[in-house]
Amino acid sequence: MARQHAQKLALLVQLLAYGLWTSISTLRRALSIKIQLLAEQTHRRPTNSSEIKNVIVVGAAFAGYSAARTLANSLPRDGSYRVVVVEPNSHFNFTWVLPRFCVVEGESHKPFIPYTPTFFSQSPKGMVRWVRDRVASVQKGRVVLRSGHELPYEFLVIATGSTGVNGLPSRPGVEDREAGMQLLAQMQARIKTAARVVIAGGGAAGVELAADAKDKYPDKSITLVHSRQALMHRFGPGLQKGAMDALERLGVDVILGERADSQSADGKSLTLSSGRKIECDCFINCIGQKPASGLVAGAAPNAIAPTGHIRVKPTLEIDDNALPNVFVCGDVADTKVANPNSKSATRQAEIAAYNVAMAARGRKPVHTYQEVWVDEFINLTVGFERSLTHFWGGTSELLFRGRATDPDVMCKRAWAGLAGKPFEDTGVYSG
Ligand SMILES: Cc1cc2nc3c(=O)[nH]c(=O)nc-3n(C[C@H](O)[C@H](O)[C@H](O)COP(=O)(O)OP(=O)(O)OC[C@H]3O[C@@H](n4cnc5c(N)ncnc54)[C@H](O)[C@@H]3O)c2cc1C
Ligand SMILES: NC(=O)c1ccc[n+]([C@@H]2O[C@H](COP(=O)([O-])OP(=O)(O)OC[C@H]3O[C@@H](n4cnc5c(N)ncnc54)[C@H](OP(=O)(O)O)[C@@H]3O)[C@@H](O)[C@H]2O)c1
Repeated sequence: MARQHAQKLALLVQLLAYGLWTSISTLRRALSIKIQLLAEQTHRRPTNSSEIKNVIVVGAAFAGYSAARTLANSLPRDGSYRVVVVEPNSHFNFTWVLPRFCVVEGESHKPFIPYTPTFFSQSPKGMVRWVRDRVASVQKGRVVLRSGHELPYEFLVIATGSTGVNGLPSRPGVEDREAGMQLLAQMQARIKTAARVVIAGGGAAGVELAADAKDKYPDKSITLVHSRQALMHRFGPGLQKGAMDALERLGVDVILGERADSQSADGKSLTLSSGRKIECDCFINCIGQKPASGLVAGAAPNAIAPTGHIRVKPTLEIDDNALPNVFVCGDVADTKVANPNSKSATRQAEIAAYNVAMAARGRKPVHTYQEVWVDEFINLTVGFERSLTHFWGGTSELLFRGRATDPDVMCKRAWAGLAGKPFEDTGVYSG
């Protein structure tokens, strides 16, 4: 017992030290770029638009959108560079609230946050160009878009994240806000009209969805089927137990050590991997994500790890000489983060962007990303009123049981930070 307390105390101290270290590192990088910008000629050279070098950012979610902003604020301001963001989605998809708004009705607009110029208000006018398209492939010095157009680049930041294998609740899997809202409404209706809901996958998405569904519809049968012997098995035992206790308290049936597959569902029942049959008139997959790395498969096949992630050096440059000047950050990067989240994605984005800013000035990128356990913290909602906040140091953990007071799961804050005014859709950004 005393040993456990000592370990927890050590984690707490490390947590505080980490907070201080990241703040100082961020401040140091920002300060050094500010000094650099002040020292540079700020008047713009008359530049022919074809002479402007592109720094292309592929994907604009947690990693890409942050990288684009850091780049726009830190590249030379003499008109020689511009940031070009390529993103197929009409709106930023705020994943955190997807499980909740698969259950709660009338809020389907909230996960879709408009991209706005406000986000880049600190950067010089004309610094950011927005292209609504998808990068089909990356070649040396150019990207080929789905539309067939090609864009040359001096530097490239790949931030394509992950693709939900089975759509909602993990990802809408569509590019337009309206189509995404419709899918959410359909999912809400499916759950509402079902009597026996079965959810496959006891990671965070499955646990959050099962808890919310049971909290909203206590009379329905909600079953969560998970492949392993504990829910949330990539996290510490305290969180595993905390999640299990919370679901049992709500009345969710949890089946462990079994796999569920939509192929075996016939609208009335479902056969699990052991052959056991359970009743089910609504099946929902929460079985995880796949890194969206296919765009480099042609030019740098060796850069794709067996997990599907893109291999990177500590500076977040792609670990393949076939593609020089290419950086990778966020969920798609092979950074050894076991439980990737928005925080690790954003921290990597900033490091990649500052390295590009250095390289654009002819300097060697020096900033490195180290996987730190604190980055993998999680705040798991377990129904509308409770949450579990968890830090996992590999052998010991910190678990805080809390009252969840925000029904929107920080959605309002995300809107304020990304778009300015919460819940006021400003349409599709054309940059
Ligand atoms: C349901 C759910 C809930 C979550 N909740 C939380 C939470 O509460 N807290 C937390 O910290 N983390 C949470 N996460 C994890 C978090 O969402 C991810 O870690 C984070 O989204 C990673 O950001 P990213 O920018 O690397 O990738 P993504 O968010 O996957 O974004 C990738 C972007 O790239 C674009 N893109 C993909 N391919 C291409 C291409 N070829 N060309 C151009 N653009 C492309 C996509 O359209 C997308 O906009 C959650 C995840 C899920 C699935
Ligand atoms: N609140 C939050 O911060 C939050 C919320 C949601 C998601 N996230 C993060 O987003 C990422 C994705 O989360 P996720 O929940 O979508 O995926 P996940 O963490 O990969 O969880 C999916 C789970 O489903 C299991 N599984 C796979 N196939 C199955 C099947 N057929 N039947 C039963 N179980 C099956 C997988 O185990 P196997 O290894 O055995 O296949 C895996 O543990 C994670 O990094 C997560 O931490 C965070």
